[in-house]
Amino acid sequence: MKQFILILLVFAISSCTQQTDENKILQERVNPLDKKVADSYTPGFGEFMSGIQIHHNKLWFAGQNENWKLADFEIHEIMEAIDNIKKYQQERKESEMIDMINPALDSVNFAIKKKNPALFKRSFISLTHTCNQCHRTTNFEFIVVKIPDQPPFSNQDFMNQVGK
Ligand code: HEC
Repeated sequence: MKQFILILLVFAISSCTQQTDENKILQERVNPLDKKVADSYTPGFGEFMSGIQIHHNKLWFAGQNENWKLADFEIHEIMEAIDNIKKYQQERKESEMIDMINPALDSVNFAIKKKNPALFKRSFISLTHTCNQCHRTTNFEFIVVKIPDQPPFSNQDFMNQVGK
C-alpha cells in the first residue's frame, strides 16, 4: 500500500512539473506577441484632431463651391476620425464626450445631401461651435476653431470639375 501511494505521488509530481513546463513554453511564445501589440503605433488624440482640422477646413471650401461630392467625402473623413477616436482612444476620458458632435455632423450631412448652400452654411457654423464647446468642456478651451479664411493647401482645387 505504502509503495502504491509513493508511485501515485511521484506520478502526480511529474505530471505537475510537465504542466508547468508547458505553461512556460506557452508564456514564452505569448510574451513577444504582447510586446508587439504594446509597441504597435496608434495615433494620439491630438493627431486625430489635427486630421479633423484639415477636413473641417476643406469641408467649408467644398461647401462654398457647392462641390457636394467633395463635401460628402470630407464630412465622412471627419466621421471616420471620430469613430477612430472612439476605437483607439478609449483610455482618454475626453473620448466620453465625443458623441456630442454627432447631431451637428448629421445636420451638415443633411445639408450636403439636399445640396442646400444656406443650410450648409448654418450647419457648418453650428458644427464649429460644437467643436469649441467640447474643447471648453474638456479643459482645452484654448483650442479655438473658426470658419477658415483660406484652404489648408494651395495644391487642391475646390471647384466642382465634374459637373453638378
Ligand atoms: C471630445 C470632444 C471634442 C470634440 C467634439 C472636438 N474636439 Fe478637438 N480636441 C479635443 C481634445 C481633448 C483635444 C486635445 C487633444 C490632445 O490632448 O492632444 C483637441 C484638440 C484639437 C485641436 C488641436 C490639435 C493640435 O494638436 O494642434 C484641433 C485643431 C481640434 N481639436 C479641432 C477640432 C475640430 C475642428 C472639431 C470639430 C469638427 C473638434 N476638434 C471637435 C476634443 C474635442
